[in-house]
Amino acid sequence: MIQLPGLIDIHTHLREPGATHKEDFDTGTAAALAGGFTVVLAMPNTQPPLVNAAAFNTALQAARRKARCDYGLYLGATLDNAAELPALAPRAAALKLYLDATYGPLLLDDTQAWRAHFTRWPPNRPIVAHAERQTLAALLFIAALHDRPVHIAHVARREEILLIRAAKEKGLPVTCEVCPHHLFLTTEDVQDSGSRESGIRGWLSPSRGEVRPRLASPADRAALWDNLDVIDCFASDHAPHLLSEKDGPHPPPGFPGLETTLPLLLTAVHEGRLTLEDVVARLYHNPRRIFGLPEQPETWIEVDPDAAYEIRGADQYTRCGWTPFEGWRVRGRLARVVLRGRDAFRDGKVLAPPGSGKNVRN
Ligand code: DOR
Ligand code: ZN
Repeated sequence: MIQLPGLIDIHTHLREPGATHKEDFDTGTAAALAGGFTVVLAMPNTQPPLVNAAAFNTALQAARRKARCDYGLYLGATLDNAAELPALAPRAAALKLYLDATYGPLLLDDTQAWRAHFTRWPPNRPIVAHAERQTLAALLFIAALHDRPVHIAHVARREEILLIRAAKEKGLPVTCEVCPHHLFLTTEDVQDSGSRESGIRGWLSPSRGEVRPRLASPADRAALWDNLDVIDCFASDHAPHLLSEKDGPHPPPGFPGLETTLPLLLTAVHEGRLTLEDVVARLYHNPRRIFGLPEQPETWIEVDPDAAYEIRGADQYTRCGWTPFEGWRVRGRLARVVLRGRDAFRDGKVLAPPGSGKNVRN
C-alpha cells in the first residue's frame, strides 16, 4: 500500500444550483472521495451562474450542508461584474474567465472586460481562464500588460502547450492544467458506431465524445506528454451530464472525471510514462501553491498500486452514471481516504457524511 496526500481537484463542475439531476454537492463530493480527492474547487457555470453575491451565497450554503470533502467555489466573470466581485473574493477559490464558448451562458467576448477583471480582482486570488488557440495568445498578452499571474484551464493542443512553454521561458507568470481525457483520448477514439456498450474498451459515439476543449489529434496528445515539464497541474474537469442528455439531440459537452483521474494516472505510472512524484506534484503540491490552499491535518489516501480492475460507469458515485473510459483496464486502486483523522472512504464505500466538508476559504 502506498500513502499519498489527499488530492486536490482544481477544476470540478458540481451542478448545484440548477442541475442537481446531473450532480449536486453530495454526490459530486462522494465521487471526489471515491477518486482520492479531499479538496475540489467547483466551477461557477451553474444555473444561475455564480456571478453575484446572491447566487454565490446560495451555493455556499448548499455546499456547507451537503459537501462530504473540502471545497472552494469559483466566481464567474461577466461583462459587468468586475466592480462587484472583489468584495466576494475573500470567500472564493478563484475567478474564472470563460473566453471561449462552452457549456452554460458565461462568455467574455470583449478584451476590455478581461482588462477590467485583471485590474480589479485582488492579487492574492488566482485568475483561471478557458482560452484556446489564438484566444490563449491574446490572454497571455493582456495578463502581461497587467503584470498578473494567470492559470490556463484544460490545455489540449500542441500549439497551446508550446505557447505556454514560450511564455514561461520569457518569464511570464503563467501556469496550466491538463485533463486526463486529453492525455488519454483523441478524435480517433470517437466513431459513429461500435461496441461502446460491450464492456470492452470501445468507441465513444460523436455525441458522447463532445467535450470542450474538444478531443484533439494524436499529435496534440503526444505534445502534452512530450511537454510534461510545462504542465503544472492535472485536473479532472469533471463535467457530469446524463447519458440521456449526451445521447439526445443537443448533446452537452463534458465528461465525468473525478473517479477515473487517479486510476488512469496510476496506470501511466505503472507503465513508466509518469512517476508517482509527477502525479503528486500535479494533484497536490502545485494546486496548493497556485491556489494558496490550506493544509488538511491528519489527511491522506492509500492506494494499492498493483490492484488491476476495469472502469465501470455503474460502479461510480457520480450521479451521471457513465464514463468515457468504460471497460478500460487500469492498474492502481484507491483503498482508503482519511479526512481529518476519520475514514472518509474505505474498501469501495464513501463513509464521510454530507456536511463533513469545509470551505477552504474559511
Ligand atoms: O466540456 C465541457 N463541459 N467543458 C467545459 O469547459 C464546461 C463543461 C461543463 O460545464 O459541462
Ligand atoms: Zn470545466
